[in-house]
Amino acid sequence: MGVEVAINTYRPKEPYKGKALSNVPLIVETSPNDVRHVTLDLSEGSLRYIEGQSIGILPPGLDANGKPHKLRLYSIASSRLGDNGDAKTVSVCVKRVVYKHPETGEEVRGVASNFICNLKPGDEVMITGPVGKTFLLPEDPTANLILIATGTGIAPFRAFLRHIYDELPTPWLGKVLLFFGMQKSEDYLYEEELAEYTKKGDFEIITAISREQTNAQGGKMYVQHRIAEHVDRLWSMIQAGNTYTFICGLRGMEDGIDAAFSAAASEKGITWSEYQYQLKQNDFWHVETY
Ligand code: FAD
Ligand code: A2P
Repeated sequence: MGVEVAINTYRPKEPYKGKALSNVPLIVETSPNDVRHVTLDLSEGSLRYIEGQSIGILPPGLDANGKPHKLRLYSIASSRLGDNGDAKTVSVCVKRVVYKHPETGEEVRGVASNFICNLKPGDEVMITGPVGKTFLLPEDPTANLILIATGTGIAPFRAFLRHIYDELPTPWLGKVLLFFGMQKSEDYLYEEELAEYTKKGDFEIITAISREQTNAQGGKMYVQHRIAEHVDRLWSMIQAGNTYTFICGLRGMEDGIDAAFSAAASEKGITWSEYQYQLKQNDFWHVETY
């Protein structure tokens, strides 16, 4: 990497006191899901970041044991210049966590995600970070990118795409393939923005809409099933070299992705786990799942 990557400019003991600038719903109100694009002001401090890093948010208040809430990490959804282009903001893409307690049946609301999704312009937010020094774009604009996301896992890829297609002084020439999993069409985060990039570069989007489409076995269509459908092409790209794979979102997708590549590799007499280990060692394979 040619650029210096800042890490932990602000730590939990002395977080940056930022302010919310805007909070935009990314999904229609009639959907049971609520995902927000929240932009925070960094202008009074020295927090700078690059695409692929995350920030920590310290929710206000105390936990059940009377201790301050622990920080939660969020992938940065903006490019290093921020959504306003002045490098003084950071944006995150946050899903409101609401679920029924498995034993009591009571509704539980996730602490940090609800705090962030409820932010109003001007509200104070304690921010730490940035963190992450490996989930980073290669510098070579001829590199191919395979991006695999479920839900809010799209956040770092939005940052990547803005950077390579809107900010770099020279065109990104490599092929960029995005596999994007979502529950329903209405949960398609950043749909218009992503569609614009298909006009700006060699960029293709392949969606897996789990509650509207079925896979070859008749089950829910997940990103790993789309990977399996396209695996010959992906395997050729990976074997040809100069192809970087990034996976972000739900941890559960990882085994299925490995299974798809394992099948393709074994046809060539290659053991996927060993091959993947080499890819990881050489910075070609990056995973950020939660
Ligand atoms: P908490 O109050 O911490 O509650 C969450 C806990 O509730 C879970 O750990 C689980 O035990 C339980 N729970 C949740 N759902 C259910 C359920 N259906 N049934 C039973 N129990 C359940 N999140 C984003 O929205 N956007 C991001 O970009 C993002 N990036 C991340 C990047 C990294 C590197 C990591 C590690 C995580 C990221 N997350 C992201 C997840 C985020 O950090 C939080 O974990 C998430 O927002 C929930 O935090 P919370 O405080 O709202 O919930
Ligand atoms: P589904 O919820 O229909 O099972 P979310 O909005 O909860 O972040 O989910 C984003 C997408 O990831 C949804 O389509 C969801 O499907 C899907 N998903 C859930 N579990 C997995 C998994 N184990 N592997 C791949 N995708 C998954």
